[in-house]
Amino acid sequence: MSRLTTTAPAKINLTLHVTGRRDDGYHLLDSLVVFVDQGDRITVTPSPELRLTVTGPFAAGVPVDDGNLVMRAARALAKARDVDRGAAIVLDKHLPHAAGIGGGSADAAATLRVLAAFWNVAPLPGDHPAVLALGADVPACLAAPAPLRMGGVGELLQPAPALPDCALVLVNPRHDTPTPAVFKALECRDNPGMKALPDGMDVDGLAAWLNQQRNDLLAPARVIAPQIDAVLDRLRSLPAVKAVGLSGSGATCWGLVADMASARQAARAVQIGSSGWWVAPAGVLRAGAVL
Ligand code: C5P
Repeated sequence: MSRLTTTAPAKINLTLHVTGRRDDGYHLLDSLVVFVDQGDRITVTPSPELRLTVTGPFAAGVPVDDGNLVMRAARALAKARDVDRGAAIVLDKHLPHAAGIGGGSADAAATLRVLAAFWNVAPLPGDHPAVLALGADVPACLAAPAPLRMGGVGELLQPAPALPDCALVLVNPRHDTPTPAVFKALECRDNPGMKALPDGMDVDGLAAWLNQQRNDLLAPARVIAPQIDAVLDRLRSLPAVKAVGLSGSGATCWGLVADMASARQAARAVQIGSSGWWVAPAGVLRAGAVL
């Protein structure tokens, strides 16, 4: 195989309920997760050893050594499958980092997938201990692009009930919100989980349901990135936006709209007068979408 390429789609938490905390400090979650058609790209070509190059609009400051989850994922797969070949990996970074939308976890999962094919070895299943050890969101990102209900600390995954056609507008005020810092600032940890997600909802039904759910990391994330309030207010002010929320530990916020045309229009509206914010219209991927 001379060259393989794949997408690492952004992970969006439409809800994120923190229902408890384990003795090791990790938090128990109940979260509705979707994947979208915005993501990083990973390309692999032959090389005697493992090496990583980072390109793209968000390449600055991204490590190319084992500080990058891509390298850790590649080494974990090589070890678990006894591979002694290398690969030249190019990570084309289109997603902002420390932004609550997967980023490193999505890249790690995409690396596991694409290198298994490239090295012609069995892929690591999502419940392999090496997968969760890479990061709590990596099992979910490995299950992409199907919408999921995520439990445990991130390792318990169930297919979500069918979601209606819809799209999102994603907005990040470009203020890093490192996940450990947000969890550390979380005060209330024993909250109820999500209300049951009914089957067969239309987009207005989904919006009404989302408006009754929470992201328990919103309160601590706002302390670290107060700009989140301005982003949520801006999204709420758009007539096409039916529900808003924060993804993961932020600071990326989403607005739910009916379709891609509305998402593009909403994105243009947010871009006007918000210099420095990352704004992207995003289609919600369905199970079976090719990455
Ligand atoms: O597993 P990952 O490296 O993505 O997690 C980053 C940090 O976020 C952890 O060190 C932990 O502080 C926190 N975290 C948590 N509970 C989770 C996921 C992450 O407390 N379920």
